[in-house]
Amino acid sequence: MSYRVAVCISGGGSNLQALLDRLQGEAPARVVLVLSNRADAGGLERARQAGVPAEVLSDPADASEWITRLGRRDVDLLVLAGYLKLVPPGVVQKYAGRILNVHPALLPAFGGAGMYGTRVHEAVLASGATESGPTVHLVDEVYDRGAILAQRRVPVLPDDTPDRLAARVLAVEHALLPEVVLAAARAGRPVPVPEEA
Ligand code: GRF
Repeated sequence: MSYRVAVCISGGGSNLQALLDRLQGEAPARVVLVLSNRADAGGLERARQAGVPAEVLSDPADASEWITRLGRRDVDLLVLAGYLKLVPPGVVQKYAGRILNVHPALLPAFGGAGMYGTRVHEAVLASGATESGPTVHLVDEVYDRGAILAQRRVPVLPDDTPDRLAARVLAVEHALLPEVVLAAARAGRPVPVPEEA
């Protein structure tokens, strides 16, 4: 039986696309629902193109609305892929240990409230760090704080701009996030995916 994944987005959804592309055929997981807090999120169209139900939350702060929508699709795992609002605590409790987020820097550095989008990469460049890369972690009630499951490193280059660094990190996210979801599907729960795996 396939592991049922909901993906939550606020924007373009390129990570959603990577999941839709990878979780097909013999893969042990499927995207069964896409949720967004914004009706104009580009990723909703990607879901529709793939024939996956795409739903807009009428009140993203209302845990019962989330729980109803997730329960209706019998969701095993919730993946935040560019979801920019806090998931209500009632949802985090109900799905404890079954919510993943992808962050575009090496947590615990460059995370926390307000650290999203280009700001993350600006901060990395301003720090003089020589490496960055995506982190996939479990979600708890605090932004970017839950247990880290996987990280991959990319170099920060001397002539980097935030956009160039963002693109280099994003390309790696597109491979890493499906890898972590597939590992969770095989294990029946999210598990660490070290670099050697
Ligand atoms: C990614 O950089 C991800 O790390 C962050 O939000 C961005 C989402 O991009 N959480 P996309 O919508 O998947 O293209």
